Amino acid sequence: MKITAIIMQSLDGFLARSNNDDLSWGSRADRNFFIEKTKEIGTMLMGSTTFDNMKGTNGKAFNSRNAIVFTSRLAEYQNYSSEFGQVRFVSDTPQSVISELESNGVTEAALIGGGHLIHQFLETKLVNEIYTTITPKLFGSGIKMCAEQLADLNLKLLDFSKISDNELLLHYKVEYL
Ligand SMILES: NC(=O)c1ccc[n+]([C@@H]2O[C@H](COP(=O)([O-])OP(=O)(O)OC[C@H]3O[C@@H](n4cnc5c(N)ncnc54)[C@H](OP(=O)(O)O)[C@@H]3O)[C@@H](O)[C@H]2O)c1
Repeated sequence: MKITAIIMQSLDGFLARSNNDDLSWGSRADRNFFIEKTKEIGTMLMGSTTFDNMKGTNGKAFNSRNAIVFTSRLAEYQNYSSEFGQVRFVSDTPQSVISELESNGVTEAALIGGGHLIHQFLETKLVNEIYTTITPKLFGSGIKMCAEQLADLNLKLLDFSKISDNELLLHYKVEYL
């Protein structure tokens, strides 16, 4: 399974100011990239806090994509399965969920956050590539792209582009040591 993390962050490495940040500080260019890339990949992986912030879009955020949401509160989230047909809720380790997806023929997934889920996937060496947009903001505090300390890894820059006046999109390969 190829897993690509897709994350927008402030220059000082925060992906949100708080849990209920609506991410409206992001640019249209970044949103367009996110929509295009996640549709191309087809399956999105996210934590329940990220889902909570996306579910208010009347399902638009899930159009033409499948979504897997990690939560230990399956009963609480069950009702959303009928509201958003293409969203599935799981309570397991990243490795088990990825193995199950692979056995169902899924070959690629986009890991879209937040920091808690990204940390688990990096820690278990499951992330192959990272796209990250460096948004021209400094927050000073907030939710880190990676929730906890990580084992050492290197990033190899594959590509970069300027996607709007003050914003860079970086594309890295993850090399685990
Ligand atoms: N800038 C960006 O690109 C970007 C991207 C995504 C999110 N965000 C923002 O980041 C914030 C959320 O990030 P976050 O790190 O706090 O939360 P998160 O990673 O989205 O969600 C964490 C929650 O998911 C559930 N979970 C995670 N791993 C699990 C597992 N293996 N099994 C079962 N449940 C699991 C747990 O909640 P429960 O078990 O209690 O359900 C956990 O507290 C929001 O503000 C969001 O808008 C920003």
